[in-house]
Amino acid sequence: MKITIIGAGYVGITTGTCLAQLGHDVCCLDLDRKRIDMLSRGQVPIYEPGLEDALHEALDGGKICFTTDTEEAVGGAHAVFIAVGTPSGPSGGIDLSQVFSAGRNIAPHLMAGAVVVMKSTVVAGTARSMREIIARERGAFDIRVASNPEFLREGSAMQDFLEPDRIVLGADDPYSLRVLRKIYAPFVSANAPIVETRTVDAELIKYAANAFLALKIGFINEVSDLCEKSGGNVADVARGIGLDHRIGSAFLQPGPGYGGSCFPKDTRAFAATGREYGARQHMIETLISRNEDRKKQLARRIVKEGGLHAGQKVAVLGLAFKANTDDVRESASLAIIPMLQEMGLEVSAHDPKANETAAQFLDGVEFHSDLYDCCHDADAVVILTEWDDYKQLDLRKLAEEMSGDWLFDFRNLHQPEAASEAGLRHVSLGRVATSPADRKRVAPVGSWERRVAAPEHI
Ligand code: UDX
Repeated sequence: MKITIIGAGYVGITTGTCLAQLGHDVCCLDLDRKRIDMLSRGQVPIYEPGLEDALHEALDGGKICFTTDTEEAVGGAHAVFIAVGTPSGPSGGIDLSQVFSAGRNIAPHLMAGAVVVMKSTVVAGTARSMREIIARERGAFDIRVASNPEFLREGSAMQDFLEPDRIVLGADDPYSLRVLRKIYAPFVSANAPIVETRTVDAELIKYAANAFLALKIGFINEVSDLCEKSGGNVADVARGIGLDHRIGSAFLQPGPGYGGSCFPKDTRAFAATGREYGARQHMIETLISRNEDRKKQLARRIVKEGGLHAGQKVAVLGLAFKANTDDVRESASLAIIPMLQEMGLEVSAHDPKANETAAQFLDGVEFHSDLYDCCHDADAVVILTEWDDYKQLDLRKLAEEMSGDWLFDFRNLHQPEAASEAGLRHVSLGRVATSPADRKRVAPVGSWERRVAAPEHI
């Protein structure tokens, strides 16, 4: 099938490349000439494991092309995927202007009978509005609009596309559904889980899925706080609840609050949609503010618990919102670092991939390409992203580089005992630490525990 992708951003490039791998003839359209030239040469402007190799293969096989010419891209296409940005609007709802403007631009060039597929994350009812916009431009309802939300995680987007948990095909007419099935034919014949539904449901599925996953993270973060106060260990609690298949073990890792291009934006949009329809999403509204508070709370914790004062140095390891990406959108680092600076601290930072992207948003930070250089003379080190480089940190070497001894490990990458042996005061999330300073934070053992001795025969 001939498929066009509108928007050569993260979702557009990944989707286009994967559809080319499935055997379709793909053409990606973007107005950014520089980006299109780069992609035509096989250079990917984002960091996504495996994407560049797959793109080279598709280019060599003549299965994908890139253009800025709308007529060339859209004419003759059986399906046109809309993969443009849907940023947050002023009241938290999403700004659909790029989506609708794409609809107006492509309308005159669409082949009669083409199916426009909404890939961008859009609020309930957008596919239907899009159909009307295109019909107005063409003076006829000869174009169908379907919905096929993406569930790609940055860092594993290729795998998520090629080994999906499910594929959601939203169509309001049988023809669009047939076209969608044909696009995903290899998955249909492999009996992959496919949800066939209406466009409005497909749109809601995307938001509800992201909101639910974000809720799991918000929930475990609060449980983690309780573990710290009560002497529990969040890793054991998460394992204990996650083994219940109704709960599941994924997304129960405490951290500095979720970030990225999706969860923060999508939860805000979901809450705004709820308010608009008079069906408020109270849990999500609370989650949004708790997630923001968490970043502030952790910044205050570094200063208070580390006893830090103006002029001292904090080294931040990890700027990306999660490992294996150079994306810093709504990353905890962008909230925590400015707060540390406001409190008068000097901040140095390291990220294996995101130094450059973060530098666009952070002033007065000393960026390092070597993580031990970054920690040189630091009074405290803060881990914010779960990169492998930080899991493999040589804690003794780190302790030697530092002038202080505080390690705030907000991704729980290190064992408290190992940090303590290296001479570091280790603060992690949701578990009892071994350093004397940390023990003070933990509630004393209950008196019943002291009274009840194990029977002799056990
Ligand atoms: C997410 C969804 O997972 C994906 O399906 C959707 O298409 C886009 O949004 P992504 O933003 O790439 O993907 O990242 P994800 O891996 O979901 O992580 C989001 C945030 O949650 C990160 O900041 C991450 O560090 C945090 N997180 C995730 C936790 O704090 N704990 C966890 O257990 C999991």
